[in-house]
Amino acid sequence: MHFFSYKNDELFCEEVPAESIAEQVGTPLYLYSWATIVRHFRIFKDAFNGLKHLICFSVKSNSNIAILNTIASEGGGADIVSGGELYRALRAGISPDKIVYSGVGKTPDDIEMALKSNILMFNIESEQELKTINDVAEKTGNRARIAVRINPDIEPNTHPYIVTGFNENKFGIQIDNALPIYELAKGLKYVDIKGISCHIGSQLTEISPFIDALLKLRELAQKIKKMGISLEFLDLGGGLGITYDTESPPDPSEYASAIKKIAGKDEFTLILEPGRVIVGNAGILIARVIYTKITPNKKFIIVDAGMNDLIRPSLYNSYHSVMPIKKTSGETIVADLVGPICETGDFLAKDRVMPPFKQGDLVALMSAGAYGFSMASNYNSRPRPAEILVKGKEFSLIRSRETLDDLVRGEEIPEFID
Ligand code: LLP
Repeated sequence: MHFFSYKNDELFCEEVPAESIAEQVGTPLYLYSWATIVRHFRIFKDAFNGLKHLICFSVKSNSNIAILNTIASEGGGADIVSGGELYRALRAGISPDKIVYSGVGKTPDDIEMALKSNILMFNIESEQELKTINDVAEKTGNRARIAVRINPDIEPNTHPYIVTGFNENKFGIQIDNALPIYELAKGLKYVDIKGISCHIGSQLTEISPFIDALLKLRELAQKIKKMGISLEFLDLGGGLGITYDTESPPDPSEYASAIKKIAGKDEFTLILEPGRVIVGNAGILIARVIYTKITPNKKFIIVDAGMNDLIRPSLYNSYHSVMPIKKTSGETIVADLVGPICETGDFLAKDRVMPPFKQGDLVALMSAGAYGFSMASNYNSRPRPAEILVKGKEFSLIRSRETLDDLVRGEEIPEFID
């Protein structure tokens, strides 16, 4: 079932023609399909039926509160990495007892906010953080539930920038140092040890790294149990990949059954932290061709979306499929699809076979629902795009396009230079 599909050569999102939205809202814009998000969430969740589990949607992948609210309505929790993400998750109606908090640099203020909100647990990533959490809990009259995030030293075969559980990465506690940290945590007065966690990387297209991590964590959990600590949660972070181009990642059902085979009878509640696999293919970025330009060496299609709107191609050389909003006849061309930003790295597709786009045409960049808007910036003083959610025949603005006033919000010219 595809919720982005062509009807009479026109791209639809569910039952709404993408062109009519672009005409009303302007471009660039992010367009999401509600049915796709819900379908992906249910498939993922149902795959773990029979196992005690909690799905904590990774807020960093798409943090719009309408999307988070959709997840909350499906019973999902949140994986957060900042006070800002906590604020969004709570505003969207995600229950605090389904929120897990990871990240190497949690500040005392963020910790205090999370303690006061009574989140499920902190995945702690260093000894200093553990002590700080204990201190803040004491100061604020709270108790902190924690898991230790273990770096299981696993090579997940993905882009080097999104590997997180390899020895040389900054994340988690080295697996060999885990027991002393649990010992330390046991002695802290305001800390309750609840679990063990890891995150090995994102856009994984094989099951084996997840299984390696799970086996390592379970083995460690046995040793921790012998120290008299019982663990309620095992948080198996690591993101299942999606198809951007020719990748063929395992289905959530294959991934879940491999996990169940090992952990099916465990007493833990399993926590999973998917982001991309839920929203990646539920969103597209629509841009309009401003100019086309032919040089002796290349053809350029210049659109009104740039690296500030979708940074993945510039940052990771990621592939996003380029599709026309209206299919036309005419021979395909090989061109670079570029944005208006003053950087050579500002491209959305390079040397790509694409339709013979003309000035004014609308272009869709597919699979942009994860790490699209959430990584957008105002670079080159460009207002960030609008976001729209479609459900069946209906659509709604879920974030207005930024205005010029938004660009300078909070800025002041001090008197002493005036
Ligand atoms: N949990 C933790 C602790 C994470 O660090 C991440 C992603 C996730 C969950 C969600 O992983 P997912 O299911 O989305 O793979 N900006 C990059 C991706 C960076 C991912 C970092 N951590 C990109 O655009 O590909």
